[in-house]
Amino acid sequence: MSPTNTIATRAQWIGDRQRPTTGEPPCPYLRRSFHLPGPVRRATLTWTALGVADMHLNGAKIGGDFLMPGWSDFRERAQVLEYDVTKLLLAGENMLGAILGDGWYTGTLLWKNERNHYGTHPQLLARLDVELRDGRRITLGSDKAWEMRYGPIVQSDIYHGETYDARQELGEWCVPSASSDGWRKVDVFPAYRGVLQPKLNEPVRVTQILHPRKITEPAPKAFVFDFGQNIAGLCRLKVRGRRGQKIVLKFGEMLNADGTVYRENLRLARVIDTYICRGGGEEEWTPRFTFHGFRYVEVTGLAGQPDASLLTAMVLHTDMQPAGKFHCSNPLLNRLNANIRWGLRGNFLDVPTDCPQRDERLGWTGDAQVFIGTAAFHYDVRRFFHKWLQDLRDGQRKDGAFPDVAPDVLGKYGPHQFGNAAWADAGVICPWEIYQHYGDKSILADNYDAMVRWIECQRRTAKNLIRPRTAYGDWLAIDAVVPNHAPVPCDLVGTAYFAHTTSLLTKIAGLLGHKDDARRFQKLHAQIVVAFQKAYVTPDGRVVGHCQTAYLLALAFDLLPSRLRQKAFAHLVDLVEARNCHLTTGFVGTPLLLPVLTRFGRTDLAYKILLQEDYPSWLYTVRNGATTMWERWNSYTKEEGFGPVGMNSFNHYAYGAVGEWMYGVIGGIRPLAPGFKKILFAPEPGDGITSAETSLPTPHGLAECCWRVRGRTMVVDVTVPEGVRAELRLPGRKAAPLASGRHRLTTKLSRP
Ligand code: BGC
Repeated sequence: MSPTNTIATRAQWIGDRQRPTTGEPPCPYLRRSFHLPGPVRRATLTWTALGVADMHLNGAKIGGDFLMPGWSDFRERAQVLEYDVTKLLLAGENMLGAILGDGWYTGTLLWKNERNHYGTHPQLLARLDVELRDGRRITLGSDKAWEMRYGPIVQSDIYHGETYDARQELGEWCVPSASSDGWRKVDVFPAYRGVLQPKLNEPVRVTQILHPRKITEPAPKAFVFDFGQNIAGLCRLKVRGRRGQKIVLKFGEMLNADGTVYRENLRLARVIDTYICRGGGEEEWTPRFTFHGFRYVEVTGLAGQPDASLLTAMVLHTDMQPAGKFHCSNPLLNRLNANIRWGLRGNFLDVPTDCPQRDERLGWTGDAQVFIGTAAFHYDVRRFFHKWLQDLRDGQRKDGAFPDVAPDVLGKYGPHQFGNAAWADAGVICPWEIYQHYGDKSILADNYDAMVRWIECQRRTAKNLIRPRTAYGDWLAIDAVVPNHAPVPCDLVGTAYFAHTTSLLTKIAGLLGHKDDARRFQKLHAQIVVAFQKAYVTPDGRVVGHCQTAYLLALAFDLLPSRLRQKAFAHLVDLVEARNCHLTTGFVGTPLLLPVLTRFGRTDLAYKILLQEDYPSWLYTVRNGATTMWERWNSYTKEEGFGPVGMNSFNHYAYGAVGEWMYGVIGGIRPLAPGFKKILFAPEPGDGITSAETSLPTPHGLAECCWRVRGRTMVVDVTVPEGVRAELRLPGRKAAPLASGRHRLTTKLSRP
């Protein structure tokens, strides 16, 4: 049995029962000394926390991870970590310790400034298994023999930030010889009822360090550090101060016109770190149990002018392997591609969050499902989504409806937080996308029952297979008639997604060998399509709502009779042209726009929309200085300033969903079979773009596609991974099969 399975049999949950449950109380330090009667052959530390914790052994922090064990649906399960600590142990006296933080368990969550979402006291469960060189085994679990006290972390909260009073430091508190002054016994808590499960995804770590690009002083003694990039993470402070000097760091993503940091969009999240100096030399501090979404930091409380060494920014996210690379001859598109990647890096922090800065940072399902295809081109997100889909299943309601956010923390607000079109559908779409990218059928099997329950739930709660109006429609679309709601009716979005997810489930059932289910869902799918056509499609191919998104859903999800497809497509083209080739779409329509145009042969139009530089467009945000994706097409404009503060994130990846099209159509790499076992190389040059270099590490090896155009000649270099079949489609040439290996091909374009 692995230590994870037995951890709870030899260890108890410990913490401080007297810790106040109101306000923002300090973080407890816990520890236990022990004796090893000989040298160590092997040792494993297994632990988890209700809250977040840093584990220490003999004076060193174990591992470079942050905010572990991360966020799971603590009502159901906690994630267990295992570390090899052989090298940190000594024959003789040792000291094992932990610092416990509130994290998502007891810290603030949601927009009403509420704490204690899962419980009132952070707790630790830890077990050390040691094998001595002479074969003896020693096990040490967290229990009442541990001691605790409070130290310098005076307050710590994910939304609000951390306060560290260095005057209260405990010195070498986790070494064998540490003083016992002020330490008292811990409290033991009742056994946890949830499941203890090995952590499925990679831990959160620092993946990059950034130094300030610029320091300004827009108000007297308030210095603003600009890191040049909007990130999620923390700052390390290095300072010489007098004892008791208080240095305050306030974080934000943008600057106001007067050069001060724009923080109105943070809503109730305080996002402030405070350091109180010990005095007497250089001091260095990094907060432990919080994170911020920021590019700028305002520093107050300094004695004089700071230099760049005062602050270093640390980029934090789940430590996934980077995957694809994309570069083309248009610098604005390269910046957009970088913004998309930063959008992912700013939001894949144990769960895929909507944004990393305000009092939200939740695993919004709709955002995740529209972006997952793009995410998989940028990073290896397989383990990340295995874990998150567990969170999603944990939040699934008994009737089969998936929650709006996973882990589900909104369900308590009522039934309307479940089963919403395009959001709840993440439960089917995300496993499917992971299967497409990695050929990993286990994710389909793990999620199968949950998917079936969602489809059944949709069927039961639909009226003649038309879905009711559920919450979000084409969220934040440009041509919203009522705030946030596009002309496309919510029931149309719901019914289109009902058809789409049923069609995916038909394929999944077939793949997993559930033949009866496959037949049943195929029939259901055909019936939904008929219902959709009856309710929303006119004989001349118009779709109710008559807006870009209405046509995109109908075309992308194959909901039209073949005779009406071209007509509907013509309406879509008219609508795009009526806007002078601009999009009007929101979260739901945007990811479908360029793929549908390409599929129906109008990549030229797709390029036109993509390359627009005025409002609303992707490059408009780039032109206005974006370094990440924005929540709104007009989160900030030079003319009008900031968008509505109630919801104005500058790090919201949903519109980054265009990245998949950039990799697939500009870059030319698209999967033709799950796991890229078959690849389509089909780069389509457009609108002045003269070259692109794209690569993707597939499960079978590196796929590459590089092309350049000189005059009318297009030269393409392709690498097909070993054992992979490929097809090449170049403008002006017939599709042709390609064997594994490197190939160079040329073609003549009709126009340069
Ligand atoms: C979030 C979104 C989310 C939406 C639901 C917002 O508050 O930030 O990204 O999908 O609510 O409509």
